[in-house]
Amino acid sequence: MFSSASGILLILSLCLVMIASATPTDVQQSWSTPSTNRLRVPVTLGVMSRCPDALLCETLFDNVIPRVAEKINLSLAYVAKFNESDPDFGVTCMHGPGECAGDVQQLCVAKHTPMRTWWEFVMCQNYQGRNQIGEPNVAFKCARTAKIDWEGSGVGQCVGLDGSGTGYEGVRLLHDSVGVVKSLGITKSCSVVIDGEKVCVHDGTWKDCENGHQVKDFVNQIEAAYDRLNGLS
Ligand SMILES: *[C@@H]1O[C@H](CO)[C@@H](O)[C@H](O)[C@H]1NC(C)=O
Ligand SMILES: *[C@@H]1O[C@H](CO)[C@@H](O)[C@H](O)[C@H]1NC(C)=O
Repeated sequence: MFSSASGILLILSLCLVMIASATPTDVQQSWSTPSTNRLRVPVTLGVMSRCPDALLCETLFDNVIPRVAEKINLSLAYVAKFNESDPDFGVTCMHGPGECAGDVQQLCVAKHTPMRTWWEFVMCQNYQGRNQIGEPNVAFKCARTAKIDWEGSGVGQCVGLDGSGTGYEGVRLLHDSVGVVKSLGITKSCSVVIDGEKVCVHDGTWKDCENGHQVKDFVNQIEAAYDRLNGLS
């Protein structure tokens, strides 16, 4: 395992700076129905679906989310580069076209299913192995795991019924997402943005995490932002 450490470091260092231009977006809805009229804290992870740093952040947030599910409006935003020469996506993804397909699949599931279903789908994809993310067969398998009706939910239409990630709606969502990343000033996967503020980056190692990078640190920052937004502090 450790003999491949330098290879892993190389891959980590590849989840680098990418630049985009802005358009609006769709951000994911609640974990469950809100019980109050209080404002939710926008929480965005800037990721690339095949990036090891992204998987690390998502695994960590799998433990953050249940503790603040009622208080956040969670989304994943995808780091990639606009490229008119790319025939399928109009975007170049750092870890290849398969990553663009994975990004589109995740965006389509986020758009067309509840937050809990979407998150289960993403966790399932990650579990299948990083370089399999974006494969149609993995998307179909994870759709079954998360109990997504591929055709009936609208996910299939969005992704492309063949799972390729080249569906019209899905590609449009990817372009919107790449724009959001730019508007948030995100250049690295994984970047954690809480209420519009970049609070932490994992790029090979944790960087620029002034208020910590453990589960409890993110929970605390989200709760503080929630109190602030709702005049509770
Ligand atoms: C989540 O954020 C999106 C985009 O900003 C917004 O349209 C939506 O209403 C928000 N949802 C909740 C529950 O706050
Ligand atoms: C743009 O996409 C084309 C076709 O996929 C590719 O050959 C080229 O390297 C890409 N350019 C950049 C700057 O990524």
